Amino acid sequence: MCGIVGIISTQSVTKRILTSLKRLEYRGYDSAGISAIKNRKIERCRAAGKLSNLEQALVKQPISGSIGIGHTRWATHGVPSIENAHPHVSGQVAVVHNGIIENYQQLKEELANDGVTMQTETDTEVVAHLANAYLQAGMQPKEMMQALLSKIQGAFALLIMMAQHPDTLLAARKYSPLAIAYGDDEMFLGSDALALAHLSRKISYFEDGDWAIITKDEAKIFNLKNEIVERPSKITDASNKTPDKGKYAHYMEKEINEQPEVIGYTFASYCSPTTGKITLPKFKFCPSELPKLTIVAAGTSFYAGMVAKYWFENLARIPTEVDIASEFRYRNPVLIKNGAALFISQSGESLDTLMAQRYAKENGQNIISLVNVPESTIARESDTVLKTLAGPEISVASTKAFTTQLVTLLTMAVHWGELRGVLSDREAKKITDNLANLPSLLARVLSDDLDWIGASSELALSQDVIYLGRGVNFPIALEGALKLKEISYIHAEGYAAGEMKHGPIALLERGVPVVMVAPHDEWFEKTSSNLKEALARGARVVLLSDDKGIEKLHEAATWIFRMPRVHPILTPILYSLPVQLLAYHTAKEKGTEIDQPRNLAKSVTVE
Ligand code: G6P
Repeated sequence: MCGIVGIISTQSVTKRILTSLKRLEYRGYDSAGISAIKNRKIERCRAAGKLSNLEQALVKQPISGSIGIGHTRWATHGVPSIENAHPHVSGQVAVVHNGIIENYQQLKEELANDGVTMQTETDTEVVAHLANAYLQAGMQPKEMMQALLSKIQGAFALLIMMAQHPDTLLAARKYSPLAIAYGDDEMFLGSDALALAHLSRKISYFEDGDWAIITKDEAKIFNLKNEIVERPSKITDASNKTPDKGKYAHYMEKEINEQPEVIGYTFASYCSPTTGKITLPKFKFCPSELPKLTIVAAGTSFYAGMVAKYWFENLARIPTEVDIASEFRYRNPVLIKNGAALFISQSGESLDTLMAQRYAKENGQNIISLVNVPESTIARESDTVLKTLAGPEISVASTKAFTTQLVTLLTMAVHWGELRGVLSDREAKKITDNLANLPSLLARVLSDDLDWIGASSELALSQDVIYLGRGVNFPIALEGALKLKEISYIHAEGYAAGEMKHGPIALLERGVPVVMVAPHDEWFEKTSSNLKEALARGARVVLLSDDKGIEKLHEAATWIFRMPRVHPILTPILYSLPVQLLAYHTAKEKGTEIDQPRNLAKSVTVE
């Protein structure tokens, strides 16, 4: 998703803006650009595609100045192209924007009536024209911002630079995230702390409706009512190190391999591995009296929520609903008084999830969030925050954030199960002992000499791949299919194994691969019947199972991946690994862009 950066300083800013844009690359983008003001003139350089293209363009067309703005664009309105890339310039104004100006059509018509011709297909361009027109009409920057913000609707993080005011940078936030970092004689603005942490660690976050007038010495922040406000600063936890892949070919491979370690850290932050005593942050309600839990999330985090539903219902007997974030508030959900709503988000910035969270808060729910970025908006607006200690996840396709979410959710379900008298201490301890042992099992799968490449080179030739799983592993079939689609662009469907006969079986013809997520659990016999149904129609089976399952089904499968035996309740965490590895190796085989797949963004800050 779009990333924005701005610097106002006494030194040249272009190189530092480029470095910040690189730190935002992980969000996903398809073009980029930088503007700076020199001698009261706006200079601009833009390029389609990767930041390396912008870097090359800057060599041919260097720009410099002590005030500048930069942008990585993830196309919403208008194709990815140089023309549509930000910054957008009109007269003496340059603008970068993350979000969507929802009333841009109406504003375009108004501007056209005033004789303005649009140069791009974007919604953002209207902001540059409006700001320029207001300045031309004699408004000062403060007045201009007030007029502009009363005119535009939608979601935005905006940075505005004015050629005639080279000592002032303007900023505004509504829904899309924006942070400011304080330097010595310089100020930095960016979409998140990661973009800024290498410049200064002292950071404040804008709240919705905030806007600001920033010079190199101070930031005057105003709220929606145009009153001056203070936004507390903190020393960010975001790393100032530039992320690197280490010995791995891709961030995704690195992050898959980090799982034993980060799962261990995350689990140890909630549960003493020796005593099994679980300590969770304080909730505003008593879990033993909770009438209902609503879980809301998007993408891979939604699948973590689906797994968690099994756990909360089975281990803690809490009525649990799981919703897709973008649907939740539009279906008028029944939210029980004193209920709790849990929002799962790696980035803590997915706008669909944030809006759902605000809706739940307005409707009296106790708000819990589970995030990997503790300074994120979703975390800041929660009553209770649970953290995954996955470390920065750079690959767009989520891996370690997902499994650390699962570990946290299972730990929480076990603890609530104990508090509600559903699980005995012994039963709870059995699960936490198994969780403590999980990192070593994951490490074993990673170091085992399994033929991922053999199976993946065949999957890479397929048009369709079906993933099947049952019970607590049904969401892992969905996640496996999502991972394959995301990074290899192969059509994949995840289905509940028993549901295959009600639809996807029609896709089965000779040779179609079917990936069976099938630990030898209470549903195994039924899953194996579904496998036979697929086999009878010529499917080739990739079997993910353990010793017992493989003993029963080895003749039916073309490829077998042997997983260690583990307590059945933990299988979704363990079986996430083979579906990630299959997707990774298939994409590698196909030569697709694994870490930044086409059209996808890591942090989706539009609805
Ligand atoms: C995007 C990413 C997915 C991610 C989803 C939810 O679609 O590409 O990998 O699962 O957003 O993100 P969140 O940060 O809220 O977990």
